[in-house]
Amino acid sequence: MRKNQTLLSILSDGEWHSGEALAQSLGVSRTAVWKQLNRLIEPGLAIERVRGKGYRLQGHLDLLDHDAIISLLADSARRRASLEVLDKVDSTNSRVMQFERRGGDDVFICVADRQTQGRGRRGRVWSSPAGENIYLSMGVRLQGGFSALEGLSLVVGIAVCRALESLGLKGAALKWPNDVLFNGCKLAGILIELQGELEGAVRVIVGVGINVHMDRVDAAVDQPWVSLDRAAPSVTWRRNEIIAEVVNQTLEALAHFERAGFTAFQDEWRARDGLLGASLHTEPENLQGVGAGVDSAGAYLLDTADGQVIIRAGELSLRRSQ
Ligand code: BTN
Repeated sequence: MRKNQTLLSILSDGEWHSGEALAQSLGVSRTAVWKQLNRLIEPGLAIERVRGKGYRLQGHLDLLDHDAIISLLADSARRRASLEVLDKVDSTNSRVMQFERRGGDDVFICVADRQTQGRGRRGRVWSSPAGENIYLSMGVRLQGGFSALEGLSLVVGIAVCRALESLGLKGAALKWPNDVLFNGCKLAGILIELQGELEGAVRVIVGVGINVHMDRVDAAVDQPWVSLDRAAPSVTWRRNEIIAEVVNQTLEALAHFERAGFTAFQDEWRARDGLLGASLHTEPENLQGVGAGVDSAGAYLLDTADGQVIIRAGELSLRRSQ
């Protein structure tokens, strides 16, 4: 175990620990402890220091743990996947893309405690503070070439909803193509990136960001948001459990999608559609209409005054009209 993590796990009990006791437990000098503490404080961990008492972590700590995640994976997922857990990365999607370029396992998964250049859809920044949320990317190969991909991101949205529900969330909805909402506020986002075609298979990077403990955001966040702690306060949300369940549900859903296509998911998606029957407009081109659900390929149907318009992912985004 690395020293930072040992120090963190000692502090994770929320009790006071003197510098001397910490130094003794870690087998290092008090100066070394002090340096390690500063490295933890710098990315945003709230560690209190009081003369005569020592150090104490304020609030809870929900550490990412490689072995804990692996132990919670379904056997089928564990057999196929290799997992990397990082303290910091530019973007977990970029990291998985680099790994894929070097060849890659069947499924390569990367999670990070924080991202310095987290990406959202349509060129947006994805706010990625340390210790609060989930930043997860999975590199998978899908048979069937690019033509099989329509609907893929919608299927991942379903998988994320299934995972969160299995852990105790009630009332998650989807906003086409793949935002996960709770009471109209964004709870999770999905960024799918493609990496080329190889012998009939497509390499896909599935990036999932989930707000877990976050209770404030930076100025980059320009839409209403919510975290799991706020959406379901009676549940003790643990990032390792959520990550494992999202991976389990996603790999299972993608295998089903490869066999049966989006048609097999259409009814479930319609049942989770947070915009069905709502007055909507599109951006950047302003089409007005009423949400009419998804078709069998995963495109969104908008009932307009001039008839039904089919909207494909990547073309336009949907907004509620006030
Ligand atoms: C969106 O709703 O705009 C998509 C957000 C996707 C964010 C995740 S966090 C893990 C992965 N790495 C990234 O840089 N982005 C995705």
